[in-house]
Amino acid sequence: MPQIPMQTDNTDQPMIEIRGLKTHFFTDDGLVKAVEGVDLDIMPNRTLCLLGESGCGKSILARSILRIVDAPGRITGGSILYHAADGRTVDLARARPGSRELRSIRGSDISMIFQEPMSSLGPIQKIGKQITETIRLHRDVTRAEAKAEAIDMLARVGIPRPAERFESYPFELSGGMRQRAMIAMALSCQPRLLIADEPTTALDVTTQAQILDLIAELKEEFQMAVMLITHDLGVVAEVADDVAVMYMGKIVEKSDVYGLFENPRHPYTRALLNSVPRIGMTSKDRLPAIRGMVPHPLARPSGCTFRTRCDQFMQGTCDLREPRLKPVEGGEVACFLHEGETTNV
Ligand SMILES: Nc1ncnc2c1ncn2[C@@H]1O[C@H](COP(=O)(O)OP(=O)(O)OP(=O)(O)O)[C@@H](O)[C@H]1O
Ligand SMILES: [Mg+2]
Repeated sequence: MPQIPMQTDNTDQPMIEIRGLKTHFFTDDGLVKAVEGVDLDIMPNRTLCLLGESGCGKSILARSILRIVDAPGRITGGSILYHAADGRTVDLARARPGSRELRSIRGSDISMIFQEPMSSLGPIQKIGKQITETIRLHRDVTRAEAKAEAIDMLARVGIPRPAERFESYPFELSGGMRQRAMIAMALSCQPRLLIADEPTTALDVTTQAQILDLIAELKEEFQMAVMLITHDLGVVAEVADDVAVMYMGKIVEKSDVYGLFENPRHPYTRALLNSVPRIGMTSKDRLPAIRGMVPHPLARPSGCTFRTRCDQFMQGTCDLREPRLKPVEGGEVACFLHEGETTNV
C-alpha cells in the first residue's frame, strides 16, 4: 500500500498569519463588511474552531484564505501570510486570482471541505476518477499509483469495499459516504491545512460523530492543521485545541478550548455558552437566548458591534470606541471590561 509521508512542521510558528483582513461585498444596497479586520494565526498540527452565529462571517473568512470569494465580494485590506513547508512566504490576500502559485497552494497545501459534498464532488464523474485526477494534478505519479492511493484513501476514510466504490458515482452513495468521499478527495493531496466548513451539519448525529472522529484521527495521522467552522459548542468541546469566536466580521475572543469553557470573557462568548442546554435541565428550565438580534449587516453599530445586545454595555465607552483584541491569560479578548486585566503574556 502506498505510504503517505509524515510532514514535520515547526509547531511553534504559525502556518498562516492573518492580519487586519477585510473582505467586503459591494452590493446594490450597500457595503456588507463580512470580514472586518480579522487577526488570526493558524498553528500547525492543531485544530482551530471558528465559532459564531449564522452570518458572522465564518465562511467568508475561510473562503478568503483560499481566495474563493465570489463577486461582488473581495478582499479590501490586510494580509494572509502563508508560510509554506519549503520556507517560502506567500501573501494569499495579494496573490493573483487564478495564478499558478495560488492554484498550487489550493488543493495541495490547503484544502477545504464543505457542508454540502456535492459542492466539491462533480455529479457526473465517478468518485475514483475525481480523486485520481486531484492526485495527478498535484503530484508526479502514474495512473496506477494514483488509483492505488485513491483506493487506499477511500479505505482510510472508512468507506467499505473501496475498490468497488472507486467506480461509483456520487449519487450512488449515502450522505455520510459522500461526505467521506469528499474528505478522501480533500486529503488525497496531503494538505498541511484542512479547512472544514460545517462538514457535518447536514448529517444525522451518529454519522456526524463518526465524521468528526475521522477528521481528528486523520489530523493526527497526517500531522495536519484543521480549521473547523461550526456553530455547535458540542463539536467545539469535542475536537478543538483552540477556539476563535466571531461576531459581525470580527474575532471577539481567542482562547484554548479549556480556557473558553472555564473562563469565557467576552459577554458574547458567555451568552453563547449560556444558551446551550445542560444535563439536569428540565423542560421547565428556560434556556436564556442571546438578547436581541444580530444587527443588519448594512447597519453596523458604532463602537463595539455587540453593544446592542450586551448586558454589560457601558455608555460613553462601548458606543464610542471599537475594542481591539488584547492579550489576557490564555488568550485574547476584544472587550473594554477586560482592558485592565493583567496577563503573563
Ligand atoms: N454573495 C454575497 N453577497 C452579499 N453579502 C454576502 C454574500 N455572501 C455572504 N454575504 C454576507 O457576508 C456575511 C457573512 O456571511 P458568511 O456566509 O461568512 O456567514 P457564516 O458565519 O458562514 O454563516 P452560517 O453559519 O450561516 O454559514 C453575511 O452578512 C452575509 O449576508
Ligand atoms: Mg457559513
